[in-house]
Amino acid sequence: MATIIETRGLTKRYGRLTAVADLNLQVEEGAVYGFVGPNGAGKTTTMRILATLLRPTAGEAWVAGHSVLKDRRGVRRAIGYMPDFFGVYGDMKVWEYLDFFAACYEIPAPTRRGLVDDLLELVDLAHRRDDYVDALSRGMKQRLCLARALAHDPQVLILDEPASGLDPRARVEIRELLRELQAMGKTIFVSSHILSEIEEVCTHIGVIEAGRLVAAGTLEEMRQRIQAQRVVRIGLMARAEETMAWLEGQEGVLEVEPVEPNGAGDLRVTLAGGDETLAQLLSGLVGAGFQVTAFYEETGNLEDVFMRLTKGIVS
Ligand SMILES: Nc1ncnc2c1ncn2[C@@H]1O[C@H](COP(=O)(O)OP(=O)(O)O)[C@@H](O)[C@H]1O
Ligand SMILES: [Mg+2]
Repeated sequence: MATIIETRGLTKRYGRLTAVADLNLQVEEGAVYGFVGPNGAGKTTTMRILATLLRPTAGEAWVAGHSVLKDRRGVRRAIGYMPDFFGVYGDMKVWEYLDFFAACYEIPAPTRRGLVDDLLELVDLAHRRDDYVDALSRGMKQRLCLARALAHDPQVLILDEPASGLDPRARVEIRELLRELQAMGKTIFVSSHILSEIEEVCTHIGVIEAGRLVAAGTLEEMRQRIQAQRVVRIGLMARAEETMAWLEGQEGVLEVEPVEPNGAGDLRVTLAGGDETLAQLLSGLVGAGFQVTAFYEETGNLEDVFMRLTKGIVS
């Protein structure tokens, strides 16, 4: 598969703050690449650089073979960018809004009418054609915004938190739309600060934390990482600190932390190893005289891995 988005050593500084630090990304053609990280991680900054709206401090990036530094027009033709805020065109009608942006792409008037209708059909807004943009729900506005990003039939879509702030139903609609766009052959680079919002539709995930890519791979690869790591919750009668110190010396134990931030109560242990390691740990604890009230594995989903990744535990 060909690489359609690539960044090399991409860096953006705002004064003393490094928002994006030496980022090396590769997105394959046809992928739905989930770009995931907590607020402030550098997602929007990266996407704005890819959309040629912001210049990097250092490094390079290419979209569909066009350099964001040397061929901005080429990049802009190849991408549809959906920003993380809607903008202010509320006093336009839905069809006018799309017609306006299609005109910005120099699509001739006779072609535009059919195009606008097709786009509205695609994002399921044909029935709101003559309504004012202001009157749309947030989910509908997001879909309209996506339609606008599609006006010039770009190869690549760069979507900044399209599911953010939507109710569950509207989120499902966005996900379905992303699937449809992927089926149309688009490559989708989509960000979210909540992995579970987009996980289902993604073929690839890249996790960004404090401007750095901390993990990237296919959905399958990311899932396998979870299985290599298990998280066990241990309930104790007392002596949490002592238990922590003991656990830290045991085979397979990667990380021990109190469940409550104040350090009292249960412990959460991250382990590498199979059931045998787990059983040994429990018998060891009991053998050492610790009074264990609970010992169970916390279910690992991708969201948990993401949470641990963004705390820098997994690398
Ligand atoms: N124009 C700016 N000037 C100064 N700092 C900025 C600017 N834009 C973003 N930042 C900072 O850069 C970091 C990354 O921000 P951003 O790319 O918006 O992250 P995300 O989209 O992942 O939430 C944050 O610490 C943010 O406060
Ligand atoms: Mg953002």
